[in-house]
Amino acid sequence: MFYCLYFMLLVKGAKVMQHEKKSFCVLILAAGKGTRMLSKKPKVLHTILEEALLYYPLSELRSVGLNDISVLVGFAGESVEEWTREKFPEVNVLWQREQLGTGHAAKLAQEWWKEYENVIILPGDTPLIRAETLLKFKNMHIEKDNSCSFLSFELTDPSGYGRVIRDGLSVRIVEHKDATPDEQKCREVNSGMYIFKTSALSAVIDDLNCENSQKEYYLPDAIALIEKSGGRTDAVRAADATEFNGINDPKQLAEATAVMKKRILDKWMSHGVRCNDPISTWIGPKVKLGEDIEIQPNVQMFGDTSVGNCCKIGSFTILHDTVLGDNVEIIGSVRIKKSSVGENSVIGPFVFIRDGAELNQNVHVGRFVEIKKSILRNGSKVPHLSYVGDADIGERTNIGAGTITCNYDGEKKHFTKIGNNCFIGSDTMFVAPITIGNDVVTGAGSVITDDIPDGALGVARAKQRNIEGWSSRRKKPKGEN
Ligand code: UD1
Ligand code: MG
Repeated sequence: MFYCLYFMLLVKGAKVMQHEKKSFCVLILAAGKGTRMLSKKPKVLHTILEEALLYYPLSELRSVGLNDISVLVGFAGESVEEWTREKFPEVNVLWQREQLGTGHAAKLAQEWWKEYENVIILPGDTPLIRAETLLKFKNMHIEKDNSCSFLSFELTDPSGYGRVIRDGLSVRIVEHKDATPDEQKCREVNSGMYIFKTSALSAVIDDLNCENSQKEYYLPDAIALIEKSGGRTDAVRAADATEFNGINDPKQLAEATAVMKKRILDKWMSHGVRCNDPISTWIGPKVKLGEDIEIQPNVQMFGDTSVGNCCKIGSFTILHDTVLGDNVEIIGSVRIKKSSVGENSVIGPFVFIRDGAELNQNVHVGRFVEIKKSILRNGSKVPHLSYVGDADIGERTNIGAGTITCNYDGEKKHFTKIGNNCFIGSDTMFVAPITIGNDVVTGAGSVITDDIPDGALGVARAKQRNIEGWSSRRKKPKGEN
């Protein structure tokens, strides 16, 4: 009796142990070479709207709380690993040193996925897949208690894809290169997205072979093997085929970019963003836009850019990792990189702001001005033709046209500090390092090499000399009357 009870407890204990396995993990296959891209860069690091292809499935998975993810890297894997560690540090990186096919890839990750009850396997080169589609897919897999579920879709031109061959209730996948002419006519194709019960996949994965036209271990062959051993497999036909568009060459990359670009713009327009020319407007997936924003034609915004409420972004403006406060007007032809602009400021046209520049509120930066790694405090103005680099410009200071902070001595960069309420005359050169106090005025055309104290006028230029009657005494050149 005692032994019986002990045995029952042991069995129950084992069951509890089993249930401790987490239910889902995701394996992204990204080791392939991407031969048709004709590029040294690994395929999954090519970009759509300036984010790597791999960014898209990873961020969709993150948005629905699927956090146990491994990316399998191989071809130029160091760069894919580095990218993943930087952008998605929670994601695990596994290696496939030799690319012997998708079945081989799945096998190499077995030590990792066998600790879960189910593994979702996705290709790394299908960036258009939506989180909601994956969630529905996952729920269906659970409801039907399948050993393997995979997503299929229909194409008018299915060439290149694995065909889904249905025979009564049974289903198998035949790769394009291995298909008979009859099988090639089949328009239902494999998306390359699967969910396996790990127990079912483990039971067949060592039986995959490479006796096929490509001499590769095919993961889709696992489906027929699971079915043969009595497991339930199911192909789920998806409604929107565009979500499965694979990127294999530059043309497909451009096509997927167009789909993603429209998807993002449609979302923002439904939130009230007025974008008069969606065709020429490019907005990256991480960009955040406030309310009541107007975007003129030919504008690009990428990276971690965010735009406050009531901003107007003029034509030919490119923003990268830029924060705009409320009510900012970008007049047009402006490029801002890794910088911020405070509310009620007016920028442009023909302005370049870069490298961590901080423009506070009510700032005006105008025509043909470059601002680099500098602070412009509230209400200051740099209206024309100036370079401000490595500088701190105080509040309500006006920088005259043609002013330059001479920050570079050929070896090092030096700092310029200019106080509040200054009036800097046109064409002033500040030879850094230099400190200019509050309420300072400089004479136009001055080359300022020494600090100027509060309230002073700094002038540093040759005294003017007028030579009376010079023009009439001037010797006329030959041939001139
Ligand atoms: C695969 C499927 C095919 C399906 C198609 C959908 C196989 C054998 N065929 O074909 O049925 O219709 O996807 O797009 O799986 N990879 C590795 N290691 C490898 C080989 C590939 O990580 O050794 C990765 C690739 O980087 C890629 C994914 O697996 O992200 C798919 O591989 P790919 O060679 O593109 O397969 P397809 O020929 O497109
Ligand atoms: Mg492919």
